[in-house]
Amino acid sequence: MKQKPIGIFDSGVGGLTVLKEISKILPNEDLIYLGDTARVPYGIRSAETVIKYSIECANFLFKKGVKVLVVACNTSSSVSLQALKERLPISVIGVIEPGVKAALKVTKNGKIGIIGTEATIMSEAYPKKIKEMKPDIQVVSKACPLFVPLVEEGILEGIIAELIVERYLKELKKSGIDTLILGCTHYPLLKKTIQKYMDGIQLVDSAEEVSREVKELLYNQGIINDKKDSGTKTFYVTDSPDRFRKIGEIFLNCKIENIFKVSLEEEKTK
Ligand code: DGL
Repeated sequence: MKQKPIGIFDSGVGGLTVLKEISKILPNEDLIYLGDTARVPYGIRSAETVIKYSIECANFLFKKGVKVLVVACNTSSSVSLQALKERLPISVIGVIEPGVKAALKVTKNGKIGIIGTEATIMSEAYPKKIKEMKPDIQVVSKACPLFVPLVEEGILEGIIAELIVERYLKELKKSGIDTLILGCTHYPLLKKTIQKYMDGIQLVDSAEEVSREVKELLYNQGIINDKKDSGTKTFYVTDSPDRFRKIGEIFLNCKIENIFKVSLEEEKTK
C-alpha cells in the first residue's frame, strides 16, 4: 500500500496548485494527476453534471491503483464529495474542510469571506461547513467567474488583473471580513494581486491546507511512501496535452513531462 500513488483530479489544469503543494510536502510520493480538460469548466455546470463527471474521474484514478484520492477541484469538492466517499473504498479528501479549518484558525473577528466559481458559491458548501464547525461565524460569499480565464491567459498581475479583482472584491472589502478563503484551484495564482487589493486581510489558500491534510492522513494510516527517491508525476488529460502543458507550466513553474490523453468514456467500459 505504501508504494501506491496518490490520485489527484481536477476539472482541468487548476488542480496543479494542489499537486504542487502535495509534492512539496510529500516529495517521495508518486502522484497521478487527472485533468478533465475536455469538459472544463465545471464551475458553470449543474451539480448533477459535476457529480457525474467527478465519479468518472474518481473511477479512472481508482483503477490506476491510487491509495488515496484528492479532489483538488473546489467545484467538485463542493457538490460531489459525499457521492465519491460512498462509492470508493479508499479515503477521499476534498478541499473544502481543510480550507475552512485554516480560516477558522486565523480569523480574529469571526467574519470570513469566500470566493469561488458560480457552482461552488451556489452550493453553499463553504458556509455550510463553517456553520457546522462554528455556528457564530459570519460568512460573505462572492462568485468570481472571470478569475479562471484570467489565470488561464497568464494575466496574474498588472492593470487588467487589478481591475477585475477590484470589480469582484469591492463589496467583500467593505464587509469587514478579516479572512478570505481562495475557494478555487486557480485563485492562488492571483494571490499577489488579491492581497494587494485586500490589504490587511488574511488569505487562505486551500491548496496548502489540503496538502497538510493529505500528509496527516497518510501518516495516520501508516501508508506514507518510505522510498528514498523522489516521487514520480504522471499526468492524464481528456483533451490534447498541448494546452495543458502550456498552462500547466505556468502553474507549476517548471517543465511538465509524462502527459497522456485518455478517454473516460472508453475507460468506463473496460
Ligand atoms: N477547478 C475549478 C474549481 O476549483 C475551477 C475551474 C472550473 O470551473 O472547472 O472550482
